[in-house]
Amino acid sequence: MVPPTAELRSPQLDLDAVLADRAIRIVVCCGSGGVGKTTTAAALALRAAEEHGRRTVVLTIDPARRLAQALGLTELDNTPRQVKGLQPDSAELQAMMLDMKRTFDEVVLAHTDPKKAEEIFANPFYQAMSSTFSGTQEYMAMEKLGQLRARDEWDLIVVDTPPSRSALDFLDAPARLSRFLDGKMLRLLLAPARAGGRSVFNLVSASFGLFSRTVTKILGAQLLTDLSGFVGALDSMFGGFRERAEQTYRVLQAPETAFLVVAAPEPDAVREAVYFAGRLSADRMPLAGLVLNRVVPVAAPQLSADDARAAAARLDGIGGHPATADVLRVHAELADQHNRQAAVSGRFLRAHPGVPVVRVPAQPADVHDLDGLRAIGSTFA
Ligand SMILES: Nc1ncnc2c1ncn2[C@@H]1O[C@H](COP(=O)(O)OP(=O)(O)OP(=O)(O)O)[C@@H](O)[C@H]1O
Ligand SMILES: [Mg+2]
Repeated sequence: MVPPTAELRSPQLDLDAVLADRAIRIVVCCGSGGVGKTTTAAALALRAAEEHGRRTVVLTIDPARRLAQALGLTELDNTPRQVKGLQPDSAELQAMMLDMKRTFDEVVLAHTDPKKAEEIFANPFYQAMSSTFSGTQEYMAMEKLGQLRARDEWDLIVVDTPPSRSALDFLDAPARLSRFLDGKMLRLLLAPARAGGRSVFNLVSASFGLFSRTVTKILGAQLLTDLSGFVGALDSMFGGFRERAEQTYRVLQAPETAFLVVAAPEPDAVREAVYFAGRLSADRMPLAGLVLNRVVPVAAPQLSADDARAAAARLDGIGGHPATADVLRVHAELADQHNRQAAVSGRFLRAHPGVPVVRVPAQPADVHDLDGLRAIGSTFA
C-alpha cells in the first residue's frame, strides 16, 4: 500500500476564494482530453453566479449534448445565452459554445467589406482552413475570449479549452499564429502564388500537410486562382487578428487571470498536468492550482483495505453476515483504488510541490444537469 503522504503536503486550493476574488476576471480550465475541463468550467461558472453573485459567462468547447441542453445551448450560434433555472433566479449566468468556423467568419466580416467577405467564404481554401487547420480551434478560442472581454458585460469569464493533442496548443496559439502569419508559411504561399506555376501546388501541399489531401480534392485546377485570392485577403486582414491574439496572451499573463490545470488521477493525465503546469510557469501565466477530478471517495479512510479484507474473511468464517462482508470488500476495492490514485497524483505534487490542489470526488453518474454541476461545485469549498 502506498501511503498518500505526498498528497497531504500539497496546499489546499480554495476554489471558492478564487471565485470570490473580484480582481479575478478570467478563469481558464486546461488539461488533457476527457479529464473534466468542460464540466469543471461549467460548475465553476454556475457557482460563481449562484453563490458569489458574479455576472458570469462560460465559454465551452464541445460540451456533451445533455450538458449543453442543461445550459440552454441548443444551437451553435456562437453568442452567449442566458442559463435558465438558476438559484436564486437573480443570479446571472450566460453560456456559449465556441463555433470555431463561425468565429473565423466573424473575424473576416469585421475586417473586410461584405463583398470581399463573401469571396473569402466561398473560397475552398478558406473553407478547408477555417474548419480543419490544426490549431484553428485554439486561435478561435483566443479570439472569442478577447471579444468577450472587450464587451465588458461580465464580472467573470470562465473558459474551457479544446482537448488538444498537445495540451500546450492553447498557450501556443498567439505565437503560432504570429509565425504562421508573419513567417515562412505565408511567404511560401505568397511568393509562388504571385509567380504562378505548378510549384505552388507542391508548396501548399507541403505547408498544409495536415489537410493537403482535402485541399487537393476540393481545389483541383481552381487552386491557383483561389489561393492568390485567399492569401491576398488574409494578408490584409490578419494584422489585427494577430495583434488581438497577442493582446489576449498578455491578458492571460495578468493577475486578473487564474489558470486551473484539470487532471484525472490517471498516469497520462497527471503526466500532461505536470508538463502543463511547468509550461504555464515558464510562460509566466498565473497558475491558481490543480483540480484533481474524479477522485474515488473513501467513506471510512481510517479503515485500510487490508483490514477491511481481513474483517470480511473473518465474517465469512463466522457466517451469517454476507452483506456486511460484501460492504467491507467494496470498501477495500475503493480504498485500493484511492491509494493508487494518490500514488499517481503524487507525481504532480512532487514535480510542483507549492501548487495548491483541490480534489473533486467522482460523482456516481455523469454530470449533465445543473444539479450535477452544483454537486461538483459544493466540493470546491
Ligand atoms: N467529477 C466527476 N464525476 C463523474 N463524472 C464526471 C466528473 N467530471 C466529469 N465527469 C464526466 O466525464 C465526462 C468527461 O467530462 P468533460 O466533458 O468535462 O471532460 P473534458 O476534459 O471537457 O473532455 P474533452 O477533452 O473531450 O473536452 C463527462 O461525461 C462528464 O459528465
Ligand atoms: Mg470538453
